[in-house]
Amino acid sequence: MSAASIALSVHDSAQQQTFEIRPLAGAVGAEIIGLDLSLPVNDEAFARIHRAHLDHHVLVFRNQHITPEQQVAFSRRFGVLQVHVLKQFLLAGHPEILIVSNIVENGQNIGLGDAGKFWHSDLSYKELPSLGSMLHAQELPREGGDTLFADMHKAWDDLPEALRKAVEGRSAAHSYTARYSETKFESNWRPTLTAEQLAQVQEVIHPIVRTHPENGRKALFVSEGFTTRIIGLPEDESRQILTELYAHSVLEHNIYRHQWQPRDLVFWDNRSLIHLATGCPSHLRRKLYRTTIQGDAPF
Ligand code: OGA
Ligand code: MN
Repeated sequence: MSAASIALSVHDSAQQQTFEIRPLAGAVGAEIIGLDLSLPVNDEAFARIHRAHLDHHVLVFRNQHITPEQQVAFSRRFGVLQVHVLKQFLLAGHPEILIVSNIVENGQNIGLGDAGKFWHSDLSYKELPSLGSMLHAQELPREGGDTLFADMHKAWDDLPEALRKAVEGRSAAHSYTARYSETKFESNWRPTLTAEQLAQVQEVIHPIVRTHPENGRKALFVSEGFTTRIIGLPEDESRQILTELYAHSVLEHNIYRHQWQPRDLVFWDNRSLIHLATGCPSHLRRKLYRTTIQGDAPF
């Protein structure tokens, strides 16, 4: 028996868990109620989750008491995991987990303190950007710390005709270092990238309008966090169009605001959404564990 068929039979034989998928009130998103990710998820349950992820773009699994190993194992069922370039913030013994945190211990940040201070799609600066990311809440502040998600399918569907014409068939450059050192949160701190890290984040070029490989819908694929310019246009025109695209993408009706609850595990689709960390007061502790699943080359 191959490794894949053994894995399949393990999931198949698992006891069926009953759970509910409840759409959220915002533009996108659904809650998953009654599923325990510390227990086996059989193939049928997994297929329902996968379908819901494609339909709702962000899934909120409530009250998950799972270990880093269990988060990694569940994430792996969606694809290959990506290891973040900021090695200093990977969880010890679990390089697939990036610590997203504003906590400082012994004068050192224990995690990436300002992940997502500009709207972005994770790892859009890579040749193979992320399919989706999972964040599992470890410690939450009593105030602030919400994460916003914007629907990029809808952003494309509603795009005014003139802007559509301006970008259809065009590509844009994405760069990790585009806004690397800009500050927004208090006590912001980012390590200087080594030559080796810089080599891993060379600029890449992706279509501005991409087709989702699984749901077949088109989506805008630019964001203020990582997109630097439209290829083939003069700098001022490129800047003007990108500014308009960014503003259009994050209109109020296009957004879901996630207010974190203890032990939430949130899994979003980076091919359908962009997201933003709203931040919290720096004296309040916030810590989440992120896994990032590799996607296809955008087309
Ligand atoms: C991320 C991210 C948002 C947040 O981890 O990719 O953008 O609210 N986080 O922490
Ligand atoms: Mn992010």
